[in-house]
Amino acid sequence: MAEKSVAEDLANKHKSISIAEFFEKNRHLLGFDSKIKAMLTCVKEAVDNSLDACEENAAELKKRKKDFELPDILVRVDLIQGEVYKIIVEDNGPGIASEIIPKVFAKLLYGSKFGRLKQGRGQQGIGISAAVMYGQITTGKPARIISKISKDKPAQLVELFIDIKNNDAKVLKNEEYVKFSKNTGTRVEITLEGLYRGSGDKSIFEYLRRTSISNPHAKITFIDPEGKVTIFKRATESLPAETKEIKPHPWGIELGVLTRMIENTKKNSMQSFLTEELSKVSALNAKQILEKAKIDPKRRPDTIKADEAVELIKQLQKADLQRPPTDCLSPVGRGAIEKSLKLVYHPEYIVATTRPPNVYRGYPFQVEAALAYGGDIPEGSAQILRVANKVPLLYESGACAITIASSEMDWKRYGIPKASGSQLPTAPIIIFVHICSVWVPFTSESKAAVANYPIIIKEIKLALQECARQLGVFIKRKIKIKRDAQRINTFIKYSEVLSTALAELTRKEEKEVKKIVDEVLEKRYGDIIKKRQELAKEEAKLPTKKVEAEKEKESDEE
Ligand SMILES: Nc1ncnc2c1ncn2[C@@H]1O[C@H](COP(=O)(O)OP(=O)(O)OP(=O)(O)O)[C@@H](O)[C@H]1O
Ligand SMILES: [Mg+2]
Repeated sequence: MAEKSVAEDLANKHKSISIAEFFEKNRHLLGFDSKIKAMLTCVKEAVDNSLDACEENAAELKKRKKDFELPDILVRVDLIQGEVYKIIVEDNGPGIASEIIPKVFAKLLYGSKFGRLKQGRGQQGIGISAAVMYGQITTGKPARIISKISKDKPAQLVELFIDIKNNDAKVLKNEEYVKFSKNTGTRVEITLEGLYRGSGDKSIFEYLRRTSISNPHAKITFIDPEGKVTIFKRATESLPAETKEIKPHPWGIELGVLTRMIENTKKNSMQSFLTEELSKVSALNAKQILEKAKIDPKRRPDTIKADEAVELIKQLQKADLQRPPTDCLSPVGRGAIEKSLKLVYHPEYIVATTRPPNVYRGYPFQVEAALAYGGDIPEGSAQILRVANKVPLLYESGACAITIASSEMDWKRYGIPKASGSQLPTAPIIIFVHICSVWVPFTSESKAAVANYPIIIKEIKLALQECARQLGVFIKRKIKIKRDAQRINTFIKYSEVLSTALAELTRKEEKEVKKIVDEVLEKRYGDIIKKRQELAKEEAKLPTKKVEAEKEKESDEE
């Protein structure tokens, strides 16, 4: 028998692997690279899902004219032993139909949000199953899910593993569970290897605090491994505006997507395909685009050849069209951001702005920013709170468009102090930036940093400039008042000595001379004294209510 060629030998070594197997090896891509980060990622995936689900549920119930609840989320971290922890996240969302629970929690790339052009926290269908997988491979323990979909039905308890080779669920337990106290909702329990940090920029506490700032309508209760309870209260009782799903806009569409859409459309002419399946293409636009692409508007989509699609995409991308619709976006809102930041930092001054929507690669996006100054904000370098689709970003700060834009700002130009060598203001300032979009361009699957598209950087800078202008005025005024106050304080300090000396010289009553000196001071510096009083009044107007951080004994919510 002839000897096998090298290629034939190599052919035997080829095999396909499942996505679960790929991410088991490359878990760092999903944010599971260190024990501290892995714990945070796990909480983040579950909390993001809970908020998405609660909001969708509330919006749907509102549409059906039924009572709805605002998000109420419990996060608990229990120390099991050594470096093994159990993370519990419970919400009052819609629950999950029992037949899909195994797929939701044990199949990577399974979800309801991929590819839909709607603002949401999740977009890939990987998050929660990756967290389940991390728990399973580090502790060998299954995930436990309890879900209730109706007030009148008992909850369902499912315990499962991921069959990593087949990217599917291995269900160990699937039974009714009567102890779930909410009307509807989901509780996820994942046991994992981790390291818990009680405070710091990248702690679970900080992540939840920032989640609460960016989601003023949500109540979040956190129970740490020592049983300490922190309640992040709602800053508003109103539900954010519901976001609408949009169709792809011609400016952002890519060849692969267009070809697939043409293959799958049920429309029987290219004219109706363009006007009905893409956004903002009028009948006249479609006619002109097809004419330029040399395609008859009456052509059936299934007759379009590959080279015709290439020409069509060129014409679509440069067509003179209206911008994409923006009712798909749900910013936090200027007022709500201010309320949230005041509740947490009690700043001396705060300014926020929401920019009008803009477009990158055909995707609508919107930037909001706020600058908070003084109060409980620590001295030193300013701190950036980066947020994308209402999710705080804690890692990969240097690679993020928000950090880049904030560092490129000419803060001094606005009168905001900045030490030489420092990129951010050197003052007690919180720089809050939120970018929301139907598709946030993250730099990787771990969704930790926003890619720096020039148009996104520009919008962030415009928002920050608007805020910086106003904060600058406040700081300049404050510095001037302080300087004037120092000057007047010197006069006041010596006015007593001056009055005594003058009384002696003129042989008059000291009281009388003091009265004249005070009158002179009032005449000359009265406006400064008044300004000082006004500033004190302004400061008194700022809220003093703190985020409630109460120590309570852990209450067993089951
Ligand atoms: N707490 C929950 N309540 C209701 N549905 C949920 C909940 N958690 C997850 N789901 C459903 O499970 C799906 C899969 O969640 P998963 O986190 O894996 O992906 P995703 O949120 O769609 O995207 P991403 O990978 O970006 O997080 C979601 O799309 C959602 O439909
Ligand atoms: Mg998710």
